[in-house]
Amino acid sequence: MGRKKYVIVMAAGSGTRMGSELPKQFIELDGKAILQMTIETFLKACPDVSVITVLPEAHMAYWRNYCLQHNFTCPQVLVKGGITRFHSVRNALAKVPEGAVVAVHDGVRPLVSEGLVASMFESAESIQALIPVIPCVDTMKVLESKDGQLVTIPGASVDRSVLFGAQTPQIFHSEIIKEAYSQAYDTAFTDDASVVEKYGKNLSYVMGERFNIKITTQDDLLLARAILSLSSFS
Ligand code: C5P
Repeated sequence: MGRKKYVIVMAAGSGTRMGSELPKQFIELDGKAILQMTIETFLKACPDVSVITVLPEAHMAYWRNYCLQHNFTCPQVLVKGGITRFHSVRNALAKVPEGAVVAVHDGVRPLVSEGLVASMFESAESIQALIPVIPCVDTMKVLESKDGQLVTIPGASVDRSVLFGAQTPQIFHSEIIKEAYSQAYDTAFTDDASVVEKYGKNLSYVMGERFNIKITTQDDLLLARAILSLSSFS
């Protein structure tokens, strides 16, 4: 018998960078809310996964109504978000038991493939912390803002070959991530991997996917629509 599987779907951001009234997780792609598309991918990849959806308090009733109106009947435990993503994850972890495997995924990454989700859950039976990453393809500059202008920081440079971008889902044995999230908040915690690493646990990595974008701006929405329209994308 394997560990029980959970996914925490993070959707409690207000989405100010999108510049729309409606937080981006509720915007529709192909006639379906981004958040619904994301949850459905997890359910298809892993039909026995328990879904915990983290929402802004002000949109909990909106999401309940949306699911009813769209016949989206999957059981979800709804959790109220916190002031930062860290606080939102911590709220959701209170609903996860010890001895489980828990994926934390950004609700605004609806294009993650079922294949990646399924293979990561499988690997996570024996790996305590598994993070998807993609190699950095751009040349990186180390700059600072001076009098409204970007300028080079003298002597600072980075070797692109050691840089990778971290994606979600990030999957953990529940006892490890629950303990890690008992630490005090630090502004350096920009994902779950950074929280678990600061707690002194080793991370393992798997290759992520270039199309697994985080929909943040209007341009990302255009890109997501273009990717979805590709006949080879399913
Ligand atoms: O703001 P950021 O781009 O890091 O958000 C990543 C994910 O975390 C989004 O899906 C967003 O809805 C979620 N989030 C959250 N609670 C917050 C802030 C962000 O669930 N307080």
